[in-house]
Amino acid sequence: MSSQSVKIAVVGSGYVGLVAAVCFAEMGHEVICVDNDERKVAALQGGDTLIHENSLPELLERYRNTKVRFMTDLAEATRESEAIFIAVGTPQSETGDADLSYVEAVACEIARSLTTYKVIVEKSTVPVYTNEWVRRSMERNGVAHHLFDVVSNPEFLREGTAVADFLHPDRIVVGADSDRAAAVLNRIYLPLTSGEYYERDGFIAGGCSVQEPPPLLLTSTKSAEIIKHASNAFLALKISFINAVSNLCEATDANVEQVARGMGLDSRIGPKFLRPGIGYGGSCFPKDVAAFRSVAEQLGIDFNLLTEVEKINTHQKKRFINKVRSALWTLRGKRLGVLGLAFKGDTDDIRESPAIDIVEMLLGEGCSIAAFDPAATVRTEEVLPSGPNLRYVNDAYTAADDADALLILTDWPEFAKLDLKRLYKGLRYPIVIDGRNLYDPHVMAEEGFTYLSVGRPAANPVRDLTAVATSR
Ligand code: UDX
Repeated sequence: MSSQSVKIAVVGSGYVGLVAAVCFAEMGHEVICVDNDERKVAALQGGDTLIHENSLPELLERYRNTKVRFMTDLAEATRESEAIFIAVGTPQSETGDADLSYVEAVACEIARSLTTYKVIVEKSTVPVYTNEWVRRSMERNGVAHHLFDVVSNPEFLREGTAVADFLHPDRIVVGADSDRAAAVLNRIYLPLTSGEYYERDGFIAGGCSVQEPPPLLLTSTKSAEIIKHASNAFLALKISFINAVSNLCEATDANVEQVARGMGLDSRIGPKFLRPGIGYGGSCFPKDVAAFRSVAEQLGIDFNLLTEVEKINTHQKKRFINKVRSALWTLRGKRLGVLGLAFKGDTDDIRESPAIDIVEMLLGEGCSIAAFDPAATVRTEEVLPSGPNLRYVNDAYTAADDADALLILTDWPEFAKLDLKRLYKGLRYPIVIDGRNLYDPHVMAEEGFTYLSVGRPAANPVRDLTAVATSR
């Protein structure tokens, strides 16, 4: 069966919406991306992606105002499309629940302009039963039930590799309770599931191929909703688990990297998401773990395991502060260089970033900080303006200059390739405290550093420091 173009509307131009819109166009579909923020729409029409994401500027340039049109008019987009993907925000409410008011508002607006059959697709991460609420909301707004279906098609993309993740997914999950709706989603994803996309000239490379196209898993809508929350909660659990193990390794002088490798070689466990650090952050894991916990609570199900996952994650940041204290004795008045503000490398996103939490805690302890991030400084300055104790600098060596210690808080690839000799010369004391395990402790000791990392024995300088100090 050859691929056909499908007319698609994507509502919301955030991470998931924008990436989905340009990737659907890349797959051969005709897309309208709707956002109610006029400035955003104008920026996207002008070619500004608004987020730092690999391959996104190229795809936007290729398709903007042709195969992807940006507009604010949801009614027009609804009329023109066969499938409408809802990709608006589902922020965390005070109780931990996902706030679904944006989803509801979009559903009501779609209902007002719907006259022929459409498939409404939940792309945002939503709790189980959301599809039923969307359905009810459409019906309350006067739409006959034969005029629409609600489908859940969760997205698993990661920031930084979002485009490649979208076009080369491990799996495509389609939760549909009607054959008609499932057929539309099958048609939309056919370029990927048939492998045809991976033979096209200039296709975006990734893990899938014509020989190994991604599988499409058809489930009930409720199962698909749970798959998304359960997957993110499980990944967060894996990170908290290895962080707890790393603490055990620190207490016993074992090496968590060896332990993680030994565990990960078991194919039932697998090696991914076993990197210890300063805890997970970002726009998804913290919010989704809280939302999943809250869903369980509302259903009367004891899922305290998730509370423990959150506790370990919070504790991991405090442990890091204690590590800094253990290296510097006292914190008040200490000058620290900080590398990294984003919640992970290759993104300018600082939402729920453990690096920012740690910077705030250190400022609270009376430290003064010179911080560098390759992409996230502008966003950080908006929430944490520079002041007498906080400076933002333009490179890693300036951050380290004359500092009592250098802290590594984000796993940017460039932070793993620093000129160690230059760093050594710049620091007041050659102390590096690495929350991301970017360096080999033996190498750091050889280069004259006191090096503390996560779950690995501390490394102390092996060269004669008196000699070095006099040669500076
Ligand atoms: C995540 C999911 O991976 C993705 O499937 C979902 O759609 C959205 O949420 P993302 O938030 O982009 O993606 O980041 P991810 O790469 O998963 O990392 C999340 C956090 O966990 C980061 O703070 C990262 O530093 C941390 N992490 C990840 C670890 O601490 N250790 C690991 O081994 C992996």
